[in-house]
Amino acid sequence: MSLKSPPDALLSRSLDAVWHPCTQMKQHEQTPLLAIARGQGPWLFDTDGKRYFDAISSWWVNLFGHANPRINAALRDQLDTLEHVMLAGCTHQSVVELSERLAALTDGALGHCFYASDGASATEIALKMSHHYWRNQGCAAKQNFLCLEGGYHGETMGALSVTDVALFRDAYASLVRALHTVPSPDARQAEAGETAADVARRAATALEKVLEREHGNVAALIVEPLVQCASGFAMHDPEYLRLARALCDRYEVHLIFDEIAVGCGRTGTFFAHEQAVVQGQPVRPDFLCLSKGISGGYLPLSIVMSTDAVYRAFYDDSTARGFLHSHSYTGNPLACRAALAVLDIFEKDDVLAQNEQRAALLTAQLAPLKAHPQLRHFRQRGMIWAFDVADAPADFSRRFAAAAQRRELLLRPIGNTVYLMPPYVLDDASSAWLAQGVIDTLHEVCPA
Ligand SMILES: Cc1ncc(COP(=O)(O)O)c(C=O)c1O
Repeated sequence: MSLKSPPDALLSRSLDAVWHPCTQMKQHEQTPLLAIARGQGPWLFDTDGKRYFDAISSWWVNLFGHANPRINAALRDQLDTLEHVMLAGCTHQSVVELSERLAALTDGALGHCFYASDGASATEIALKMSHHYWRNQGCAAKQNFLCLEGGYHGETMGALSVTDVALFRDAYASLVRALHTVPSPDARQAEAGETAADVARRAATALEKVLEREHGNVAALIVEPLVQCASGFAMHDPEYLRLARALCDRYEVHLIFDEIAVGCGRTGTFFAHEQAVVQGQPVRPDFLCLSKGISGGYLPLSIVMSTDAVYRAFYDDSTARGFLHSHSYTGNPLACRAALAVLDIFEKDDVLAQNEQRAALLTAQLAPLKAHPQLRHFRQRGMIWAFDVADAPADFSRRFAAAAQRRELLLRPIGNTVYLMPPYVLDDASSAWLAQGVIDTLHEVCPA
């Protein structure tokens, strides 16, 4: 292995042998890869010993820092006990405990956990389960899925059928089912005098019109609650989730919450949807997709949680009425054990309360950004911060990332939107340092 090979050799070998994700490989002629040798807390260290602050939690997965001693210890123990067993016909302690603890976090409303390895697979499972549910109920015409404009739910073929990001979809459009979008409740669309809740109500009215007309063909609406992350961190008011739930009930359409990015404390509550409350109770979906942070950024793991009503519709003497979907690593014990360690940290460290303080501090420290003449729509929810840059120079995203990197900051803007999603290990000093780094980077790339 090559950690000891000269850094340049590692980089060129990677470019030869590794096809990197979400990347036009030719661009690496100008922008070198980072060859990472190790991680510690929020820091990544390259093969030259230079450090980078992982301000986006390595694609939003790393919640408690790299090489976290508690997750490491749990994994070592699991490794010496059971590394893997197939989940068809077998079960094991970690998957049972994880399913029970997740169900308890929804007060038992979503008591059935189906496992896979990545976020896109969770989307596929929720879509397939929803359609199969309706088929088992004698409503096979319910085959379509609604998603929000700008929605992103993964890049496999099924997930692309509910992903409204042209760059990811266009090349495969002829292979993928037609997209059915409804307006996004993106609060940035507020007109003069309108609140975010007003925008949410407007979007819900548009949803109602579609459901009125189409509900006989629609299996489910899929929504990323509170923040549509991958398409540019569009944030919305929880009112949309309340109204969408009521409309889905009225028109007999499933509601899928994709909390792959926004779950696990990212928006301030453990599940983002807990912020949408009706009569003192959170609005629950029929299917909840989790992935990314649930394993602390250690191992690929995704989970689709569903209700008793969904589960019962598959429970039958007929094999074909069952949910015959599987992946080899479904319910992998190591990944489940990492997730259990993550839940332990949430409980023992009162992470949500600590994050509230971290979020307030970093928001205040980032406030000087708002004076920049090109800054638009500074926004924050929980441990997510984002802002847009108007009249940005060509190639803004790459220039910003490169300038940030020179300041030891790992950032990856999406188009002209800069966002921060740091791990939940930010102390006061690193918070101040991070804010200053972002402010200085913006001023370097867009001199005011
Ligand atoms: C909301 C959402 N859904 C689904 C996915 C797909 O997850 P994965 O990349 O693990 O397939 C992502 C990935 O960023 C996501 O943000």
